[in-house]
This record gives sequence, structure tokens and C-alpha cells, in this order.
Amino acid sequence: PSAIVKKLFLEGKIVTVNQEISYEEAENIAMEYDILCEREVKVDVIEELLKEEEEEEASLKDRPPVICVMGHVDHGKTSLLDTIRKTHVTDREAGGITQHIGAYTVDVDGRKITFLDTPGHEAFTAMRMRGANSTDIAILVVAADDGVMPQTVEAISHAKAAGIEIVVAVNKIDKPSANIERVKQELTEHELIATDWGGNTEFVPVSAKTGDGIDDLLETILLTADILELKANPDRRARGLVIEAELDKGRGPVATVLVQKGTLHVGDFVSAGACHGKVRAMIDDKGRRVKEAAPSTPVEILGLSDVPSAGEVFLAHENDKTAKSYAETYLAQNKEKMLEETRSKMSLDDLFSQ
Ligand code: GTP
Ligand code: MG
Repeated sequence: PSAIVKKLFLEGKIVTVNQEISYEEAENIAMEYDILCEREVKVDVIEELLKEEEEEEASLKDRPPVICVMGHVDHGKTSLLDTIRKTHVTDREAGGITQHIGAYTVDVDGRKITFLDTPGHEAFTAMRMRGANSTDIAILVVAADDGVMPQTVEAISHAKAAGIEIVVAVNKIDKPSANIERVKQELTEHELIATDWGGNTEFVPVSAKTGDGIDDLLETILLTADILELKANPDRRARGLVIEAELDKGRGPVATVLVQKGTLHVGDFVSAGACHGKVRAMIDDKGRRVKEAAPSTPVEILGLSDVPSAGEVFLAHENDKTAKSYAETYLAQNKEKMLEETRSKMSLDDLFSQ
């Protein structure tokens, strides 16, 4: 905005930042940018708004690792998470309720680890990609009786693209047909070579069914996390990702978010994609009401105007107005994108109908 105000000012037009300018004026400014760059320039406003300055070293504090569990359909991702949760969340804490949310935090030897579940079905590629992008370490679950499968390979490529560490959990070792060595062999073809084979990928044999190897897996995760030295500034406005969201009959839009930076508080003004609102209540992964959520914490938030999409960035804002204007900008830009897509589709159709 300041660049536009300045430009118009230099042309002798005095405008304020929240003043509407004519289409013609806007077009002229846009054209000028186009000409200067000698190509079509489309400014992704949302992308610009999401850019952040590098945080000062002194403001950074240790944060728990965020782990996503990936792998082929039915290889045991959800079972593995259930087992970890059962053995590392006390009943009292859980309040006896078995909740099925895609994110939770456990305590291991006094340290926290946050887990995200991702579905293995091929329809959920985008979700796996977002899972990989929002995490520090991926646990690649490979069933020892089934070996490397298409979504195993896809998960590897998402994790690699996101530049995150992979720990392999060779699951279902309780099965008679389990073959751990075969899994190691198959994964060498994807440049994941076990440490005992001279490589640098940790392979941990586990059984989600019997609980075998789970402690080894958690220890391996903590050791891997130590090397990464994960930090975030907890003393700033919160920012994170929407993990999942739905419309609850009684409570309205409910979004599970992962706080990545800053601390989210009840009463904060937030936006998530085209949605905005004031955090009315927050519920942690154990079903308890909480007042704040620090970095690497997943929480459910109530109070959004609508149901955001999974993977959307959520931001806490200074006030209601900026939260709303962010959401509106997002909506306007997406409409524009959709229009463009329809236009290009239409012209393709026109072409084919000739
Ligand atoms: P999607 O979310 O559909 O991709 O599957 P998933 O990877 O989450 O697999 P899930 O945990 O749903 O497990 C699939 C099946 O494997 C279930 O019937 C589990 O009971 C079974 N299973 C999971 N882990 C083990 C294990 O360690 N041993 C044995 N014997 N069975 C297991
Ligand atoms: Mg599952």
C-alpha cells in the first residue's frame, strides 16, 4: 500500500491508505509494473502477507519436535499412534475419552513430542504433502509383511521435497510373515540405507499390536530431534497450520490447528484462509479447556466464522479488523484464481470444440 500511495502522491494525487482508487488508476499502476519487468507480473498478495522477517536468535526457545506419520494404506500409521498414545498418556489425563483427532502431544521422559497422522490412501496426496511441510521428522511406516508400496514411495518423495528427516518404523513385526531385511533391501532403492547397512537412516522394528519397539522408536525420534535443535519464539503473535476442521452441530466451526510460532490465546483475533474470528475457546488433545497454546502444540479452536481447509495458514492478528481484512483478501484472491482457471478451461474447451 505505501508504494501505491507514494506513486499516486508523486503524480499529484493525495490518497490515504484505505481510500478506494478508480479502476483506471489501479490499472495504470499495474501496467507500469508490468512494463518495468517486461513480463506479466502477478503479485500474490497472500504470499506477500505471509512472508516473515527472520526471528532474532535471542527470542528463540526450544520447542517440541513435530512428527508426521506417513506410509502406505493399512501399514499401521493410526494403530502406531494409538499405541503410543495409550502407553504415554495416562488415563487420568485423557479423561477416559478416546478421541480421534489427527494430532496430539505425548510426554516421553519429561519431553514432549507432537504427532500428526496422515492418511495413506492415494486420494490424500495433498494432505500428506502438507503433513510433510508442517513437520520436523517423518516416521515412515512400512509393514514388514507387505514391504515398500506406492504410497510408501510417494511419502518418501514428499518428505525429501520438504527436506525433513525420515525415521523408518518397520511395523507388524509380530506377524509370522514379517521380513525386516526385505524392507531394508527395498528401501535402499530409494536412498534410505539403514545404519547397520552402512547408511544413515534409522530403522526401528515395531509392532503397533504388541507395543514392541515403541520405546526404541520414541528414543530415536528424540535423538533425531536433538540434532535438529528446534526452536521458536513463543513471545509473539501465533502462526501455524490448520490440521483439520469441521462444522460441529453444537459448537459451530471447529478447527484443529498446530501452533508453529508464538503463543495462541483465548480471545486472540485470528484468520485462517478465508475465515476469521476471535478464539472463543481452546481445547487441547486431552479434551481439556486451555487458555493458551505454545509452539508445537495442537489445539482445537472455536470461534471462527467458517470452516477453513486443512493446510491453511492461521495467523493471530492485532485486532478484529486486520483479521477480517486478511480473510477478505484471501477470498478475493482465490476468487480471482478460480475465475482464471475457468477462463483457461473455457478457452481449452473452445479449442477442442472447433
Ligand atoms: P490408513 O489410514 O488407511 O492409511 O491405514 P493406517 O496406516 O492408519 O493403518 P491402520 O492403523 O488403520 O491399520 C491397518 C490394519 O493393520 C488394522 O487392521 C490394524 O489392526 C493392523 N495392524 C496395524 N499395526 C499392526 C501390527 O503391528 N501388527 C499386526 N498384526 N497388525 C497391525
Ligand atoms: Mg490411518
